[in-house]
Amino acid sequence: MLSEDLIKQCQKRIEPFDCEGFVYGKGPQHPAVMFVGEAPGETEINNGIPFSGRAGKHFNQYLKYLGLSRKDIYITSAVRSRPYKWEKRRGKEARKYNRTPNQKEIAAHAPILDAEIKWTNPPIIVPMGRIAYWRLLGNSPRMDEVTGVPVETAVRCLDDWEKNTYCFSTKTYAVLPIYHPAAVLYRRSLETDVYKHLDELKKLFADKM
Ligand code: URA
Repeated sequence: MLSEDLIKQCQKRIEPFDCEGFVYGKGPQHPAVMFVGEAPGETEINNGIPFSGRAGKHFNQYLKYLGLSRKDIYITSAVRSRPYKWEKRRGKEARKYNRTPNQKEIAAHAPILDAEIKWTNPPIIVPMGRIAYWRLLGNSPRMDEVTGVPVETAVRCLDDWEKNTYCFSTKTYAVLPIYHPAAVLYRRSLETDVYKHLDELKKLFADKM
């Protein structure tokens, strides 16, 4: 289980940034797979359920395709609060919009993901999108080159928060990157690829059984 002290410390570290709310990762201690997203959005910080907004509809379809339910998997993200920016769009009143978390925000919450990985020891980790990929693997390749390709690799854990440095786990994990479900909202054409990547994930399950 995650310690509340650790969570409090991470919440304190993210305080200076424009981030709101806190959504816990969800799932059993022995999940079939751990999915890692970017950061919750408005819907999630209001109801506390990861991937329950628009991107979550796609995520639920992925689970259905995989023959899994939320009880079988662990779902979390690089940052557990919602990074926002105030913006005026289309002549309307200024309001908060989601934005991509920055490196400081990712480092502020990194110990949470580190602890979740330790606690669940997932047989497969699926980073969804480039932020989760960078958080876990430390580089930013083109997503079309790495999605759907399983790799056995160590993953990054925070080393020094002040210096924003990471080290790599001693253990290796089967990691299969896919596109973030929200990417499909903006580029419908990615959907065919996503299902091919999910087929690769099914093969990986079969290998791990
Ligand atoms: N994107 C994420 O990474 N997590 C959520 O919970 C929702 C959208």
